[in-house]
Formats: sequence, structure tokens, C-alpha cells
Amino acid sequence: MSPAFDSPIAELLRTQRVVVCCGAGGVGKTTVSASLAIGAARMGRRVLVVTIDPSRRLAETLGVSRNPTEPVPLPVERQRLAGIEAPGSLSAWMLDPQLVSDNVVRGFSKSPEDARKLLDNPIYKNVTAMIAGMQEYTAVEALYQFVLDDTYDLVVLDTPPSRNALRFLEAPSRAGAFLDRRVFNLFLPGEGGAIRRMAQRLLERVMDTAFGADTRKELQQFFELFGNLLGHLNHNQAEMRAFFARPDVGFLLVTSPTQEALTEARYFEGKTRDELGLNLLGYVLNRSLAWARHRPFPRDELLPADAPAVAREALEKLRRLAGTEEALVAQHTALAADLRQRAGGAGVAWILPGLPEGASEMDALLTLSNALLTKDA
Ligand SMILES: Nc1ncnc2c1ncn2[C@@H]1O[C@H](COP(=O)(O)OP(=O)(O)OP(=O)(O)O)[C@@H](O)[C@H]1O
Ligand SMILES: [Mg+2]
Repeated sequence: MSPAFDSPIAELLRTQRVVVCCGAGGVGKTTVSASLAIGAARMGRRVLVVTIDPSRRLAETLGVSRNPTEPVPLPVERQRLAGIEAPGSLSAWMLDPQLVSDNVVRGFSKSPEDARKLLDNPIYKNVTAMIAGMQEYTAVEALYQFVLDDTYDLVVLDTPPSRNALRFLEAPSRAGAFLDRRVFNLFLPGEGGAIRRMAQRLLERVMDTAFGADTRKELQQFFELFGNLLGHLNHNQAEMRAFFARPDVGFLLVTSPTQEALTEARYFEGKTRDELGLNLLGYVLNRSLAWARHRPFPRDELLPADAPAVAREALEKLRRLAGTEEALVAQHTALAADLRQRAGGAGVAWILPGLPEGASEMDALLTLSNALLTKDA
């Protein structure tokens, strides 16, 4: 039987078109994204989850391959296993960021030949990893199309473990600044007045001497092909920033209870809500012991007043054993309350337990999905 789907997170999944999961490295962004997506599909929505660098085990659990060129619907039996029934559906796109950049090159180059040349260009291969935000930006570009095409009711977007994750939304992008059009033009052969042509020949000679003619040609080719592409990307960036500011596009900050992860979450809070004016949906506190706050801990009241001394001694030992955990439970509960306050009036702060076996298998994802969607799972 389906659970109640009555949590504030369930409400978000019902109303949002895009949920972006951000946070520090290793806090559970990919796991939470997958669990949210499964949950939303169980609620009857057509969902796409886009994950970045997912584990092989997660791909196997969902029954999809990593790095396909487009989203893959989960096999029917996996959807059944996850309790997903029509009209709900779940597709996953498990991405290698480099592959995404390559796809954008294929999609937006003037011709397949141009695309091939750029992909084979050694400078492209080295430079894409260096260009700030390029990979995140291109993943988002694809997502944006899915939402515009109305292929899915909801897209859950996992992000890579870095502050760069939101750089695609910053204006003007560093990618744009680094690859300024004017710099590009200098490297381009052909056009321009006599002075420019002269400057160019000089530049070519200097480069030939410095790098050799082959590298210079590779550089020129790179700048020409990549320059065309960049024109397109920069053009779309303003449009995309507007898209990400829509009220049905929101950011969920995933964190663990460690200080490091919380500091990172705070950074993302400042970036999304305060600096970029985006819709901060709230927090998911993953692997939290706050989950156990209703569990009974050993206390004197557990024993009748006339309990024998041996029972009192046993209780005392138990209490010492449980003491550390009880203190952590109290600490995590206070933390969850603090996050709720930080999330503001309409924001959520939801706690998730740490599962003993890790969280990649379907049972674990379902447990987390239940914990996300129901008030008292
Ligand atoms: N609630 C949980 N209980 C148990 N294991 C978990 C839980 N959440 C995540 N994990 C496990 O922790 C590991 C890291 O999780 P995950 O890959 O989702 O983190 P991430 O934030 O996406 O990492 P990265 O920043 O590297 O992308 C995985 O092995 C995952 O199965
Ligand atoms: Mg991840």
C-alpha cells in the first residue's frame, strides 16, 4: 500500500517543476535526488532525475546505464519494484559531465564536421575541464529543454560536489569572461581590416615560434569552433537565469550534521536565496540521529520504585552506554530546529536517518523515499 505522501517535501514534489539538490561533497545529494525522484513518481508525476557522477551501484539499482546520450526510462519491473504506477513514471539520466559538454558541442556546432573537429581538438579536451562552470552549465542547458518541451512534470537535478555547481547562474559567467569574444576574434583567420590582418600574422608568427605551427593551428581551430558555440551559450544564459528564478524552480540544500557540510550548506543558502534571489526550498539533514528523538532512552522511570538493586545497576550501565548517542540525538534535533529557522517561513527542514547498509539498493532508496514523503514514517 502507498504511504500517505503528506510531508512538506511531498507537497514540494507535487508543485515544483524543477528541484535542484546542492550541498557539500559526499553528503548524499545523489542519493537524496534519486529518493526524491522515486517518491515523486510514486505520487503519480512523470519524473526525470539527472544525476552527476552516480555510483555504478546506484545505476544498477535503478536498472539504467551510466552516460547514455539521453534519459532512460527505468525498466518496467524496476518501476514496479519501486511502487511506481501510471500516470507516474521515472526516467534517469546519469551523467558524466565531460560527456555532457561533448553533447552540447554536437548539438550546437554548425555542422557535424565542426563538432567532430572540436571534439578531436586536443585543446578542447584539455580546456573544457578548466573552464569554470562549463560542465554544470551544459547539464542545465539540457534540463532546461526538457522542461520547455513538457516531457516531464518534474525534473530533479543532482549537482556536482563543488561551489561551481551554481556558477552557471552567475552573471556574467566566468566562462564568458575567460573566453571573451574579442579575444577569440584575434585568433580567427581571415576577416578584418589590414591592421587586424597584420596583427594576426604577427601573432601567428609568434605562436609558431612559441608552440610550433601544428599547435597554433589547433589553437586557431579551437578558438574558431568554440567561439561559435560560446556565442550560443552566452545568448541562452540570461534566459536560463530567468528560468531558474521561476517560483516553480527551487533549490534544496542537502547536508550532513558535520560542521564542514553545514558551512557549505550555509554558503549555498547565501548564494541561492540572498545573492541570486532564487527560490530556496529548504534543507534535508541527511544521516541524522534526530530521527531517533522519540526512541525511549534508559531512565529511572522505566523501573518500578521497588526494583531490586541489580536492576538499578543494569539500568545505570545502559544509561552510560546510551549517553553519547542520546547527546548526539539532542544535538541533531537542535540542528534540525536551527535549519528550519534558517529555511524561513515557507521553507522546510527535513531529517533523514543514516541507513546501516549504505543507500544504493532499492530497499534503501524506498526507505529514504518514505522518510522524505511521509510525516511519521
Ligand atoms: N541516509 C543514508 N544512509 C546511508 N548511506 C547513505 C545515506 N545517504 C547517502 N549514503 C551513502 O553515502 C555515499 C555518498 O552518497 P552520495 O553519492 O549520494 O553523496 P553525494 O553528495 O552525491 O556525493 P558527491 O558529492 O561525491 O557527488 C553513498 O555510498 C551513499 O550510498
Ligand atoms: Mg553525487
